[in-house]
Amino acid sequence: MKASAPGKIFLFGEHAVVYGKKALVTAIDLRCFAEVKKRDDFRISSPLGITGIDFKKHPYISHAVKRFMEVKEIKGADIEVKSQIPIASGLGSSSAVTVSVLKALDAEFETSLTDEDIYEMARKVELDVQGIGSGTDPFLSTYGGCWLIPDRKPVSIGKFYFLVVNTFEESITGEMVRKVAKLKETFPEVVDSIMDAIGGLTISAIPYLEKRDIDSISTLMFMNQCLLKSLGVSSDKIDTIVSELNSMGIASKLTGAGGGGCVIGIGSNEKLTEATKKFSTAFFVKPEKEGVRIE
Ligand code: PMV
Repeated sequence: MKASAPGKIFLFGEHAVVYGKKALVTAIDLRCFAEVKKRDDFRISSPLGITGIDFKKHPYISHAVKRFMEVKEIKGADIEVKSQIPIASGLGSSSAVTVSVLKALDAEFETSLTDEDIYEMARKVELDVQGIGSGTDPFLSTYGGCWLIPDRKPVSIGKFYFLVVNTFEESITGEMVRKVAKLKETFPEVVDSIMDAIGGLTISAIPYLEKRDIDSISTLMFMNQCLLKSLGVSSDKIDTIVSELNSMGIASKLTGAGGGGCVIGIGSNEKLTEATKKFSTAFFVKPEKEGVRIE
C-alpha cells in the first residue's frame, strides 16, 4: 500500500512552541510518498540509500517500524520512500516520512489505526530520534491544514503563495532546540521574555493573515526573524538572504529549527516572482489542506 503526507512551514512561533507558546503552522503542497509491501525481512529504500532496519541511516523509518511493532508484530516489509520535501531543511521532511510510513504500514498490515493513533505514534518517533520537540511537525503531517498550535485551532489563511529559499545548510532540529534550551537556562528572564514576545507575534498575526494584510504580516514576520536571531538560531547565510529579500520589499524569516534550512518570504506576486529570478534555490509553496492519505 502507498501513502503520502505533507511537509509544513512555521509562519510564526518556532522554538517558542517548545515552551507552550503559540505558533502558526501550515502544511504545504510538497509530500513524502511511502510504499509498503509484505516481505520476510526488512528492506528500506529512500534517497538516503538502501538498508534493513538501520537506526543511523534511516532513524525515522526504523523507529516508526519499531513503534508500529508495539501494535502488530511483523516479520518484515519492503518500505520505499520518495519525497518532494528537501531533507533537514525545516520543511518537516522527517515527520512526513514518519507519518506516511506509519499510514502505509497500517494499510498494508490492516491494523485500523486512526489518524490520532498515527499522530501519537509519530510523536513518539520524533522523541525517539530527537529526544526533544513540540510534536507540531507530526501533527501537521497527519492532519494537513493551517493551525494555531498548541490549541489545535484551525486558521483560515486563504490563498497565499510563500516563497521558499533553501540555504542548503543542514538544519538539525534536536541540536537547535538544545542550543536554545541552554541559552534559556543561562538567561531565563531574557529568554522567557523573548518566548512570550514570539507567542504574542503569533496571536497578533492571525487577523492579518485572515485579511491577507501583507504589510502588517510583513512587519510581524520581520520581528519574528529578529527574535529568532537573538536566540542564536539564524545563520550568516539566512541573514544575507533575509536582508536581500527585505531590500526587494519581501518580508522573510527562517522556518523551523534554523541554523540553516529554509527561509520563507511573503510579498506581492510580482516581487516574489522577481525573487525567484535572483535566487536560484527559490521556489513557491502553497498551503495544503489534506494531511496523510492513501494514494
Ligand atoms: O525544523 P523543524 O521542521 O524540525 O521544526 C522545528 C520547530 C521547533 O519549534 C524548533 C521544534 C519543535 O519541535 O517545535
